[in-house]
Amino acid sequence: MKTIGIIGFGNINQEVARQAVNSNKIEIKWILDRSPSKKAKKEARKQIEKSLGKKLRFIKSKDKLQSDSDKVDVIVEATGAIDAIEYLRYKRDNLNWGDEVLFVTANKAMVANHLPEFFGSNSNDVRIEAAVAAGLPLIRSLSEHIAADEVQGMVGILNGTTNFMLDEMEKTIYASENQTYDMVLDESVEKGYAEPGGAGDVDGQDAAYKLQILSRIAFGTEIAPDPDLVRGIDDNKTFDRIRSVDFIYANKYLDSTIKLVAIAQSSSKTEPFFLVYPMLVPKSSKLSAIKGPDNYIEIYSKYLVYTDMQGKGAGPEPTACAMLADVLSHKNCNSDSQQLIKDFRSNDEIYFSRWMVRGSCYDLPGVLAHIFQHFENKGISIDEVFQLQADEVGCKWDKKDRDFGKEQEKILPFVFTVTKTNLSKLQEALSTVKLDKKFFPKQGKLFAFYPVLERKLINGVPKFVIEE
Ligand SMILES: NC(=O)c1ccc[n+]([C@@H]2O[C@H](COP(=O)([O-])OP(=O)(O)OC[C@H]3O[C@@H](n4cnc5c(N)ncnc54)[C@H](OP(=O)(O)O)[C@@H]3O)[C@@H](O)[C@H]2O)c1
Repeated sequence: MKTIGIIGFGNINQEVARQAVNSNKIEIKWILDRSPSKKAKKEARKQIEKSLGKKLRFIKSKDKLQSDSDKVDVIVEATGAIDAIEYLRYKRDNLNWGDEVLFVTANKAMVANHLPEFFGSNSNDVRIEAAVAAGLPLIRSLSEHIAADEVQGMVGILNGTTNFMLDEMEKTIYASENQTYDMVLDESVEKGYAEPGGAGDVDGQDAAYKLQILSRIAFGTEIAPDPDLVRGIDDNKTFDRIRSVDFIYANKYLDSTIKLVAIAQSSSKTEPFFLVYPMLVPKSSKLSAIKGPDNYIEIYSKYLVYTDMQGKGAGPEPTACAMLADVLSHKNCNSDSQQLIKDFRSNDEIYFSRWMVRGSCYDLPGVLAHIFQHFENKGISIDEVFQLQADEVGCKWDKKDRDFGKEQEKILPFVFTVTKTNLSKLQEALSTVKLDKKFFPKQGKLFAFYPVLERKLINGVPKFVIEE
């Protein structure tokens, strides 16, 4: 029988407690939570105590922990707080519970912000499987099964909430009542995939935390991602968020869909690369077929060449299951033998051979020439231009969306592709297009853009490639 102490008694750890009680292999000695008297927690506690047949010990502060009587085999932490690192430090330094008390966490924000404490030479006492892609055994695969290989790159979908949202939007683009961004966000909150407003998920940060942790394991690389290289489906910055009409253009003209893609690449031949971005993904690829809240990753490596994995990337049940597998395992998934590489490519070094840009303007002659002239002045070549007719766009132009105010009805979205350019140059060109009020509405973000992720056969293996 393993003994555990639980820190944080929210969605995840309530499920951990339920599964632990059902397993008959794990005994809960104490539960620490900052607000155990909240209604939902009291109800969960009552239920779990009923099936256990006895009361559980709840505490509100780490100061109540006794070094002898409260010692457990494993501490299971799921608070979501970056400063929950204090609990790991307290275990190590104050309670003097060394390697023999394992610290299992699902808290990716804490791990990504404190990588040295999870991957240093003194980190035999931590397990982090559930922090990335919940139930997918990604950390274990990278750190054990692929450990002897040289990982060169990873391309995947690491945020289930936004994948669910994109999937829902795309399903209804040709329906008479299409689902707007706001509608699918509300639905994902209702289903428990996202917090109200979607913070953390829709801005790409959650996927970036996970990619940071995976990069550390795969490449021995500790990075703080460049904020310009982490963009979500609505980043609340200068550019527009994703809209249904973007899927129509991507489907109809570029045989692609749109996914929030996380990419990290590191090989001796090229500069390391780290990016989380909404991208156009070819319909023929497996990445484009990932539906709902699933997570998916393709790992390219020297000897195994190609491995992929797909599964439930969120939700209390798979997350708790992964945490309890960590509780029951005593294998060490850390190594600090690799050299740390800190310099990843910056946004002026990230080139894609094609980009799709969507603009929003009044449907007047001369507007495209106005924009293209500006691009040409910046040395960016326009490749193709697509424009749906007003009746084809119809309600798909998010009629219910109020970003453009009353002017929404008069605005027609158009799309063009540009040839090889880098991220910073494209952003700069779009931010400085002269907004002549004859052509453009005063309100709303006028542009959105997506790199086109290309897949090529390399030595017989289909791989996503980042153009040099
Ligand atoms: N939900 C998923 O599908 C999923 C999947 C994989 C990983 N995770 C990770 O699992 C963690 C927990 O997620 P969750 O959905 O269970 O969150 P949650 O429902 O908000 O639960 C967190 C619990 O921890 C408590 N808490 C917060 N900060 C604390 C602190 N400093 N000390 C003690 N207690 C504290 C919270 O109290 P209050 O009620 O007072 O806030 C709450 O009871 C997060 O790191 C998340 O990224 C979640």
